[in-house]
Amino acid sequence: MTFTDQEKQALVDLANAARERAYVPYSNYAVGSSLRTKSGRIFTGVNVENAAYPQTMCAERVAMFKAVSEGEKEFEVITVVTDNGGSPCGGCRQVMAEFGLDTIVILADGQGKIVVETTVNDLLPGAFTPEHLEK
Ligand code: THU
Repeated sequence: MTFTDQEKQALVDLANAARERAYVPYSNYAVGSSLRTKSGRIFTGVNVENAAYPQTMCAERVAMFKAVSEGEKEFEVITVVTDNGGSPCGGCRQVMAEFGLDTIVILADGQGKIVVETTVNDLLPGAFTPEHLEK
């Protein structure tokens, strides 16, 4: 499927708008994510923190888990939007890798400006993937 600059920006804008729903009373670092599946469906996610800090869930994992729970496992593109264009954590990179190394990853800042466009493979070289468990 082709992916225009306009479509990229629309996905970023969706993630940026979702940031308003981030539950971040501890870090005050709102993260929004959006993804488009290869079938064309769109899901969003926000980070959800917890008083027991390790129970916090990152925005991009929320978006991916929402998609998987709705039967979608092939992602064309995932966006992550933060105030400062921050990069996905290692755990999220690993979860992205589970579903495809070729997925495009777009990082953007709080103005909705795209600062990085990369792939899961570039974010996590040498990833451990489901193929490694094949006998
Ligand atoms: N966070 C994400 O949502 N995604 C990442 O990839 C990095 C970190 C969240 C977790 C926590 O709520 C806040 O950002 C600060 O770590």
